[in-house]
Amino acid sequence: MELAVQSPKVPPRLSETMDSELSKLGNNLVTKFHVLMRISQIYDSKNVALQQFIQESLHAINTFVKRDGSIRIKIVGDDIFLNEQRLRYSVEGFTSFKYLLTQWKKRFIGEVLYKEVLDEETLREFIYLLMGLEEGKEENASLFNEKLKERNISSIEVSPLEVSEKEEGAFALEKEDSREVGKKVFFETIGTVKEVITQIKGKQHADVRKLKRLVRKAVHLIMEDESILLGMTTIKNYDEYTFNHSVNVSIYSLAMGRRLGFSRGVLSELGITAMLHDIGKSKIPLEVLNKPSTLSDEEWGQMKKHPLTGVEIVLNLKQLGEVNPKMVVGIFDHHLKNDLSGYPKLFHKKRVSLFGRIIQVADAYDAMTTPRIYKKVPLTPEQALAVMLKDRDVYFDPILLKMFIGLVGVYPIGSLVLLDTHEMGIVFKPNPDPQWIERPQIILVERDKRGKGKKELVDLTERNGGGGFKRSIAKTLDPNKYHVDIAKCFL
Ligand SMILES: [Fe+2]
Ligand SMILES: [Fe+2]
Repeated sequence: MELAVQSPKVPPRLSETMDSELSKLGNNLVTKFHVLMRISQIYDSKNVALQQFIQESLHAINTFVKRDGSIRIKIVGDDIFLNEQRLRYSVEGFTSFKYLLTQWKKRFIGEVLYKEVLDEETLREFIYLLMGLEEGKEENASLFNEKLKERNISSIEVSPLEVSEKEEGAFALEKEDSREVGKKVFFETIGTVKEVITQIKGKQHADVRKLKRLVRKAVHLIMEDESILLGMTTIKNYDEYTFNHSVNVSIYSLAMGRRLGFSRGVLSELGITAMLHDIGKSKIPLEVLNKPSTLSDEEWGQMKKHPLTGVEIVLNLKQLGEVNPKMVVGIFDHHLKNDLSGYPKLFHKKRVSLFGRIIQVADAYDAMTTPRIYKKVPLTPEQALAVMLKDRDVYFDPILLKMFIGLVGVYPIGSLVLLDTHEMGIVFKPNPDPQWIERPQIILVERDKRGKGKKELVDLTERNGGGGFKRSIAKTLDPNKYHVDIAKCFL
């Protein structure tokens, strides 16, 4: 198992050194703040006993504001930065330091900016609002800012905690077993994609921070064991097609990116690009998207605009941070096709970007293997791969397609197979040894005498007494004909 090794990204403007005066002032501020936070949990906001502590904190904050114009207290990993400089805590100050760090982190508050000299009343309001925040709520920072606004407080602004990749990965891998984490990440991501799309449809401000965080978790999981998330892609639900599809395309893309040796950073970018590849469809009316019959020319015209609309939407998503050109181009390119015969039509010939080529493969495979409102019986994984191979030069980058087949396996995860023992099984996990690519792990789906479903995990490399293999795949079957619910295996 590989753990996250990247350290939290500290913007270069944050300095490691802090002059001794600042350090003294900083430690004093944190200590006073600590005391005030504690006291506020004992007394109500009107209590006179508070007065002295408020005054002391106020003095500490205002000293900074007067000196530097404003004071920004920011949490980065396990450090506190004051106006871009890391606070070296004193031994005496350690308890206060830890307390502030823990309390803010619990409430997902990562930064507080005091923009002006404060008065007593403002600080009092601020501290009670802060300590009154519900723990573990990610939206706290925006709620907090709204409340400050309601109270006409413009001198303070808070920002949410930026959770580093290292912390997330460690948290995820320590706490639960990876399959459970996989399930949670998968369903949470579907829910979040749904939220983002709904926000965009309603012309609201879409929040993609959560999506970015979930993608980073997915990257951890893919690095650890790609079969977990790949298994989840067998959950096909046409009622939630768009959301499910976005997440599946992202999983396939991540698994390909991993095989291409992408770094975690690039994988995260690829994952989010794939997740948002069809975001432009949020502007197409559902009647057109789900139309069971052939689309009219005008409707096709609308449909073909979605890569470009997607680019526009992504460029407007503020929390995406710096929008990487790779992401924008990836979304633009995902229907160009390998020979540029797709859409949008280009004035100048260009090579389809790598992100675009990856997404194209993942997109086609998922679309073909997923039931749709107008096509309830999808292709089996094997049939889909056959179709893709037939058109490989026109549609896909042949090398990427080959890699994709290696990835989903000769017998893709989720395939229903018949064994030479006449048992029926579902491909659960590909064999990690390329030598045994035709011998994955299988879940046998049997019925006992009472007709109850039984499941048993077997490895097709298992030998019998005579040195031969105990079981081998005889052929693949169409799950739709046998009424087997493949997804159940992976839940
Ligand atoms: Fe698309
Ligand atoms: Fe798509």
